[in-house]
Amino acid sequence: MSEETMPQSDLRPLTSSHRAGVVICDCGDKIAGILDTEVLRRQAAALPEVVYAARDAYPCSKDGQARLRQAIAEHRLDRLLIAGCAPRLVEKLFQQTAQSAGLNDGYLEVTDIREQCAYVHGDAPAALQKAADLIEMGVARLVTTIPPDAHTGRIVKSAMVIGSDLSGLTVALSLSDNNIPVTLVEPTNALGGSPHDLSGRERELIAERSKAASHHSHIQTLLNARVIEVTGHPGDYQVRIAQNSHTTTFAAGAIIVATRAHPQELGTSRWYDRSRVVTQAQFEQELGAVEAGGSLSPNNIVMILCAQEPSDGRCSRVCCMDAIRQAIRARQYNPNANVTILFRDLYLGGAGDQQTDEFQQAVELGVTFFRYRKGHLPKIGDPTIDVHDTLTGETVRLPYDRAVLAMPLVPQDDASLGTTRTLAALLRVPQDESGFMIEPRVRLRPGRYTDDGVYVLGGAHQPADTAETLFQAYMTSSRVQRFLSQDSISVKASTAQIDAKLCTGCGNCAQVCPTLAITLEKRDGGVAATLSLSDVDPLRCTGCGNCAVVCPVKAILLPGWGDAEILAQISAVLRRASATGKVVALACEWSAYAAADMAGARHMAYPPDVCIIRMNCSARFDPYHVLWAFINGAAGVFLGACPPGECHYGTGNLYAKERVEVLKKLLAEHGIDPRRLRLEFLAGDDGGQFAKTMTGFVKELAEIVRVVNLVK
Ligand code: FES
Repeated sequence: MSEETMPQSDLRPLTSSHRAGVVICDCGDKIAGILDTEVLRRQAAALPEVVYAARDAYPCSKDGQARLRQAIAEHRLDRLLIAGCAPRLVEKLFQQTAQSAGLNDGYLEVTDIREQCAYVHGDAPAALQKAADLIEMGVARLVTTIPPDAHTGRIVKSAMVIGSDLSGLTVALSLSDNNIPVTLVEPTNALGGSPHDLSGRERELIAERSKAASHHSHIQTLLNARVIEVTGHPGDYQVRIAQNSHTTTFAAGAIIVATRAHPQELGTSRWYDRSRVVTQAQFEQELGAVEAGGSLSPNNIVMILCAQEPSDGRCSRVCCMDAIRQAIRARQYNPNANVTILFRDLYLGGAGDQQTDEFQQAVELGVTFFRYRKGHLPKIGDPTIDVHDTLTGETVRLPYDRAVLAMPLVPQDDASLGTTRTLAALLRVPQDESGFMIEPRVRLRPGRYTDDGVYVLGGAHQPADTAETLFQAYMTSSRVQRFLSQDSISVKASTAQIDAKLCTGCGNCAQVCPTLAITLEKRDGGVAATLSLSDVDPLRCTGCGNCAVVCPVKAILLPGWGDAEILAQISAVLRRASATGKVVALACEWSAYAAADMAGARHMAYPPDVCIIRMNCSARFDPYHVLWAFINGAAGVFLGACPPGECHYGTGNLYAKERVEVLKKLLAEHGIDPRRLRLEFLAGDDGGQFAKTMTGFVKELAEIVRVVNLVK
């Protein structure tokens, strides 16, 4: 069937059992001065589901809210739509108003006819038509929506700390001192580990705190222990631990990862004279041997900082001070030794004056500091180390009998101790290029990981010096205490629901779930027992909708963002054709939808043919919805998503990109110009880009139509 002969579908019921109310905000004259709100009111009143339609100068005012409550009661409204300004400004307020009048706030809809219409299209007849379409779209959503349920779970008042370096010990002691039972899991046979800050202060702190932790009545220490499985949800995790060839499951409300980072080995990718070239850690052992009564033989010691830059360019924070402290000791143990530190940037960091004093002491002891430029790493040759002098432009050759390389800190990667990669996978925490565990959306939620009950700090998160480590530990302890102080955890948000009658147990949903909230369960008895059944943990599901898109039998419902309501909105938008053809814009509320708001607030015009449907995330962009729009006569479909790396649900936007690429090919195969479908990544504050993109897209669509007509 060619697209021209496809039927116009209509999801609107001819009669309705709903009692919807529509209130159109005049917004003083900000809306009424541009759009004829009385015409809009009359059109809304004619919708079969609407039993009450009114205009209000300011429904958001105290009096306006009272009038809304009165209308809900008098007209026994079970749905309420306010057509006015952007939802982000008033939705919360109107939800509270609806709740106070006994109306489920899931049945409250705010349709934006100000920023998305009056402010960007002016008083053109098409603008009035678009406002009417938006209102009809809102009503269509209201009568098909299913509000999310609330889910509650218990909070187990205990914590598990994985790793016992300074950060792990500090957070464990801080929690247990506040009467929170802690299970402290250490993969080696002793608390502590090897500190990388060689000030001695960290060593003392670790020794002190290891002793305190092993005697604390609220801390259960598990040595030689590894986490092998984590199930449950925030506030109620079950963690299986392998220890000395047997496994035990522990319950914990919160899990704190404090595994240590360690300096990278020299490796074999480059040749070094191993008798002369060592790492800082190896040189530390040499200095330790001197302290135990030996002597320091090398006379020409050259230390190279940033000897190997990590792929992400991250500073390891502790190497510079380690080098300075080692240089001081080297000069003290062997006053004849020439000690040179080759540095690119010198990070003294930390709190207080101690670091500067130590630097000063090194200078006074005759340690030479020599700067090299980025991209001109000193060359370790046979008789000399050659370094480019940034002042003279000459190459300086330094003889050496000991080269000490500062290698970058990397996360725990010893398989026998449980690698950071394994732990990250068990806890669903993303890792950066170097393998450190990172916050999925650091700009939006710093210090928060995929689950609210999971915390990462210290060397598991990024290299940190002593001061930073302590700061992080105390901050994490406060966060954990706050989380565990709740009696229960309650979520009233859209979470996936499985229709057991339809689910075939294919497992697609479980594969794409970013929070591992879906598991496959065995069904009970009968023939059905041959199939698995998907099961969603509502306290873990974040409601991105990715599962609903990949379900081949549409057995997954996402309340608030269900197929029925999205299709009903698309149908409502396309019910009336426009001369130039309409564009259905599915817009992620965190990016493209916000950008549209911004374009409106700044009165940046774009064509009125664009009707925006708010979506929770681009993970929810379903090819089925796009096809529905084309079948119903859309000239184009625009999909607006968060830029890569900024999706609030992890990688929904990358899934969307992949799906759009496949869909474009299918559209082309079926005679639909793939340029009629466009996916753009937009920043939420870039209204200008939104207006420009939409204007360009509508123009391109017009050109496509012109060429098609010419061919005809
Ligand atoms: Fe915007 Fe996922 S939240 S694309």
